Amino acid sequence: MRRTPTLRAAVRETLLAPSQLVAPVFIKEGIAEPRQVASMPGVRQHTLDSLLLEAKQLRAAGVTSLLLFGVPAHKDAGGSEAWNDAGILQQALRALRDDHGDELVLIADTCLDEYTDHGHCGPLRADGTVDNDASLAAYARAAVSQADAGADLVAPSGMMDGQVAAIRSALDEAGHAEGVGVMAYCSKYASAFYGPFREAAECAPQFGDRSGYQMDPGNGEEGVREALADAAEGADILLVKPAVPYLDVVARVKAATGLPLAAYHVSGEYAMVHAAAERGWIDGDRVMAETLLSIRRAGADLVITYAAGWAARRLADR
Ligand code: PBG
Repeated sequence: MRRTPTLRAAVRETLLAPSQLVAPVFIKEGIAEPRQVASMPGVRQHTLDSLLLEAKQLRAAGVTSLLLFGVPAHKDAGGSEAWNDAGILQQALRALRDDHGDELVLIADTCLDEYTDHGHCGPLRADGTVDNDASLAAYARAAVSQADAGADLVAPSGMMDGQVAAIRSALDEAGHAEGVGVMAYCSKYASAFYGPFREAAECAPQFGDRSGYQMDPGNGEEGVREALADAAEGADILLVKPAVPYLDVVARVKAATGLPLAAYHVSGEYAMVHAAAERGWIDGDRVMAETLLSIRRAGADLVITYAAGWAARRLADR
């Protein structure tokens, strides 16, 4: 069954379709021109105009889902720009919705690290630790503001306990009971693979790290428990992150919940492929394609990747 390309294609178990790709995009307030992110070839911090152009190009390639991160001009200790109805992310959501109607799935990152001056994912207590329950209130306000601006899904990524339930009930009360879903980062690890993202989103913690709220890399069982908890709180899509170092968690979460599942091939994973390819040490295109397929094979329905546009165009060429 491996003799010819057609035979191999006929019995291939796993396929990757453009509709299964999600492209993360960064929209930055107060810049006149888009800025290339040094450690992520092909990824830029967008202006509103360049974002709209990028969305058109992604859609032309067949990518129909965007995950949006806002980078505000003004940050404060509470991250208040996150729920500014006229904030940069909200502006982007409205403009994209205007351009594309329901032809694009718009997913808003619901977190505070891009918005706080200290770079942590929630407001701090006097001792410098993140206040879980104060974070929930802020996430709920941000999620409602994002839903009002046109998000199909909000995606809480801060790993606070109870974040899905808090957001779900706030959305319901605000009249978004049926129209807006929650894509829950259920099993997000305190990972060294997020380095380049923190440059793109300008959200590196100014002190300490995120291991007080993100998961310990040694814990697979807990990854499943977190997924079950988020499912019980009303998550519509679950998310494991990073992807490749945690494919076992992807497989286990899928088996345990049966819910739609996304896996996030994160910035460091993307950067490593490009860096090795630049040195001529690997065939970057083939490694990227094999990587994205392996994420699907492990059980992810959706693959969130900075290579979404590239992958969709490559699939179309076949
Ligand atoms: C935090 C957030 C992070 C990423 C997405 N949302 C970074 C972090 O936890 O420090 C990382 C994504 C990537 O590395 O591509 N809200």
